[in-house]
Amino acid sequence: MATPSQRPPSAGGLQFLGAVAGGLVHEIRNPLSTLRLNLQLMEEDWEGATDPAAVRSLERIQTLKREVARLEDILNDFLRYAGIRRLDLAEVDLNRVLEETTTFFGPECVRAHVDLAFYPDTRLPLVRLDERLLKQALMNLLLNAVQAMEGRPGSQLFVRTRLDGDRARVDVIDNGPGIPVEFRDRVWDVYFSSKKAGTGLGLPTARRIAEEHGGSLTYATELGKGTDFVLVLPLRGPPATEAPPQDA
Ligand SMILES: Nc1ncnc2c1ncn2[C@@H]1O[C@H](COP(=O)(O)OP(=O)(O)OP(=O)(O)O)[C@@H](O)[C@H]1O
Ligand SMILES: [Mg+2]
Repeated sequence: MATPSQRPPSAGGLQFLGAVAGGLVHEIRNPLSTLRLNLQLMEEDWEGATDPAAVRSLERIQTLKREVARLEDILNDFLRYAGIRRLDLAEVDLNRVLEETTTFFGPECVRAHVDLAFYPDTRLPLVRLDERLLKQALMNLLLNAVQAMEGRPGSQLFVRTRLDGDRARVDVIDNGPGIPVEFRDRVWDVYFSSKKAGTGLGLPTARRIAEEHGGSLTYATELGKGTDFVLVLPLRGPPATEAPPQDA
C-alpha cells in the first residue's frame, strides 16, 4: 500500500513547491549579489598589487568571484525551469522565429565548425505561442546538438518545420554521436548532464515549455548517426485547461 510519501504529488502540490523553491532562490540571490559586489570592490582594492601575499589574496578573491557567478548561474537556470508564469501568447510566424533563432546561432556554429541549414515548410500557418519561451526551448536544442557534434568533422545541423494536420512540427537534427542507451531515459531528468559544465536543465526546460503549449518534445536517436529532437505544437496554442494559473 502506498504511504503518503510514495504518493505522487498533485499538480497543486507541485505548484506550491515550485513557488516555495522560487521564493527560496530569490532569498539566496540577494546575499549572493552582495557577495559579488563586495568581492568586486575588494578585487579593485588589490588590483596592481605586487607583493606576494597581496597577489595571493587577489587570486583567492577571483576564485571566490567565479564561484559566486556559478552559484548565480545555477539559481537563474533553476528559476527559468521552475518559473511558473503566464504564457504570453500571440499568433506567431514559426518560420520567422526559427529563421531568427538559427541566424542568432550562426556564429556559434561557425565557431564549432558545424554546417547549419534551415528548411521551412512554407505552408505553415501562424501558430499561437509564447515567442520568448519558444526561442528559449529552441536554443537549448540547438546548443545541445552543437555540443554533441563539436570537434567531429562533417558536423551538420538541420532544422526544419512541417505542417502536420492541426499541429506544427519542428525537427532539430544532428549527425553527432547519438544518445547512449544508458542515458536515454535520464536526459529528461532535472540536473542530469553528461557534460563537465552542464547543469542538466536544458532538456527538461524545453520539454516543459512544449508541454505548457499543449505540445510535446521527443527524440529519436541512433548511435554513431545522430539525434532528431521533435517539437510538436498545436497551431491553436494550449487548450484553456492547460494554461498555467492566472495569478502566477
Ligand atoms: N543532440 C544530442 N546528442 C547527444 N546527446 C544529447 C543531445 N542532446 C542532449 N543530449 C544528452 O542529454 C543530456 C541532458 O541535456 P540537457 O540539455 O538537459 O543538459 P546539458 O546540456 O548537459 O546541460 P545544460 O543544458 O543545462 O547546459 C546531455 O548532457 C547529453 O548527454
Ligand atoms: Mg543542454
